Amino acid sequence: MKFEIKERDAAGRICRFTTPHGTVTTPNLMPVINPNKLLITPQEMRNWFHTEILITNSYIINKHERLHKEALSKGVHKLIKFDGAIMTDSGTFQSYVYGDVAVDPLEIVAFQRDIGSDIGTILDVFGTPDQTKAAARQGIGETVKRAKASVPLKGEMALACPIQGSIYPELRQRCAQQVSNIDADFFPIGGVVPLMENQRYTDLVKVILASKKGLTPAKPVHLFGAGHPLIFPLAVALGCDFFDSSAYAKYAQDERMIFYWGTEKLEDMSALPCSCPVCSNHTAAELKELERKERIVELAKHNLYVSYEEINKIKHAISTGTLWELVERRATCNPYLLEAMNVLRIEDHKSFLEYYEPVSKPTALFYTGSQTIHRPGVYRLHTRLFKRFRPSSNQAVAFPEGKKPYSAGYEEQIKKIRKKNTQIAILIDSHLGPVPLELDEMYPYAQSVFPKISDIETEDAATALFDSFTKNMDVLSWKGNSTLTKLKTSEKEVDRDAQRISAVCDMQFGRGCGDVLLGGDIAVVKSKKTDKIRNVYCNGRHILSMRASDGLFTLKLDGAKILHKKIPFPLLRVVVHDDAVPFIKEGKSVFAKFVTDCDEELRPLDECLIVDIKDQLLAVGRCLLNKTEMLSFSFGMAVKTREKIT
Ligand code: GUN
Ligand code: ZN
Repeated sequence: MKFEIKERDAAGRICRFTTPHGTVTTPNLMPVINPNKLLITPQEMRNWFHTEILITNSYIINKHERLHKEALSKGVHKLIKFDGAIMTDSGTFQSYVYGDVAVDPLEIVAFQRDIGSDIGTILDVFGTPDQTKAAARQGIGETVKRAKASVPLKGEMALACPIQGSIYPELRQRCAQQVSNIDADFFPIGGVVPLMENQRYTDLVKVILASKKGLTPAKPVHLFGAGHPLIFPLAVALGCDFFDSSAYAKYAQDERMIFYWGTEKLEDMSALPCSCPVCSNHTAAELKELERKERIVELAKHNLYVSYEEINKIKHAISTGTLWELVERRATCNPYLLEAMNVLRIEDHKSFLEYYEPVSKPTALFYTGSQTIHRPGVYRLHTRLFKRFRPSSNQAVAFPEGKKPYSAGYEEQIKKIRKKNTQIAILIDSHLGPVPLELDEMYPYAQSVFPKISDIETEDAATALFDSFTKNMDVLSWKGNSTLTKLKTSEKEVDRDAQRISAVCDMQFGRGCGDVLLGGDIAVVKSKKTDKIRNVYCNGRHILSMRASDGLFTLKLDGAKILHKKIPFPLLRVVVHDDAVPFIKEGKSVFAKFVTDCDEELRPLDECLIVDIKDQLLAVGRCLLNKTEMLSFSFGMAVKTREKIT
């Protein structure tokens, strides 16, 4: 089944998943349907919530004589009267809840196929959080064995193979690697219900990360049994695509209402803090006065409305590049969730998440609190700053945080410094750590919003970065004229524009790329309105354009030719198979299935050189995926081609 990335943010993505019963957009929620007791019918779900996919249980259908017969004769879609995509589960969860249940692992897969399920689940072995490591290891051994044996039976059905391994990260990762290597189509992260029931979100985050690290990025990932919207944003940011909700019905039976911040009892509510159709049409008192049966249906509807609303908010956040903001805001709703955010500060997890993080976003980075400085994108900024950027001098004048862009905010002071000394570096001691003046228009330095006073943790982190960056530098803090008198006058003229162009190039393409690109007669065209750099020419050839939105360069074909000649393979390269060469030469974009190799340092939205297997330059473009994704996906675009060789 086709699965392709359409938009992305954090390690989350909006994908299109094609099933025989329609295309499903992820992230998405699958309401759980119990064919024995329908609170809300699938048709109603389709009408009210635009439900594209739902999940039901083949174990229940199989066990019940009438359902079993009907499902086999007319198919599961007719049985539950839903023409969208249907996933079925296998009975694993029942065996976890009720002890041993009699299901044959292969029969239940064949049954799901025979009733026409779009996605059928193997009979995995539910790993509980309190298991010993040995028991968990044995459980995943059996799960993988059953997965392998189930593959030949799947027919046209997509096969879901859950990742187990209790709370042991090595086992989770290994299980994920093993199931990624078999011909399965869909990967639920299983055994997490007890973690969610006990609000063990720290363990949940570790389990998701370990599983994602072992999984192929090219298949959908489902957080099995997750139906509370509280954790949707974080789970999506870590790379989960699907959720399933029986919570909407269970909580409704319990007369409880789901909200993005948690769950509340109807009996405790005097006002309804929601404007879904249910809450718009009833007061809390009216809901309490309904017949119990009717009340439960209304509560279930409310629960699904808010669950889908959160999914839509996540999709919107991905489109606008604000998923981390949403995650951080939601984390403050629940102390256990807030605590779980600390896992993301661990170096190994940060660098994993950084690999998937786009290098630029459509909107500014907004500070939400002490979590912000720990975002993977901020981590990237600093690794690139320390690895790629070279200060123009080991002497610097440092300014405190100020109006952005800093070169405009400190224009008068900078002029005075330039008059005295043309060599000295200028740094801003900002909320995001040291900002060399040359980089002050680049994302996210200029495109970030912090309050004047942030928080101690952010300030400490920024100070530590500043100190580390300047440890071999002689730094003067700006104190006005008294600082000016300390500066030695130099005769040598420095080209400020060239310095900025070179610095941004080094940050974007790698250390030394600025020198390589500017090794000729440079002409710069600036915006008449803003005086900012727009186009850069080298020996009369247009090599770079600076985007006004994020202060990053788009690489022109003539710039790509220079980098290609001077920067050795495989740096900055995306290599395409010979079959794709004619298409690229026509200016078509690069599909992931044609990529044979790629520079590991490239990140989503980085500029890249598109080459053939002999490293001949074909075109220049912008990556939509990282290396692992390019080599894993069979569908969708890997690089958006900008200019082709003529
Ligand atoms: N439902 C909730 N958790 C699980 C799980 O781990 N495996 C299966 N098959 N179904 C589930
Ligand atoms: Zn409501």
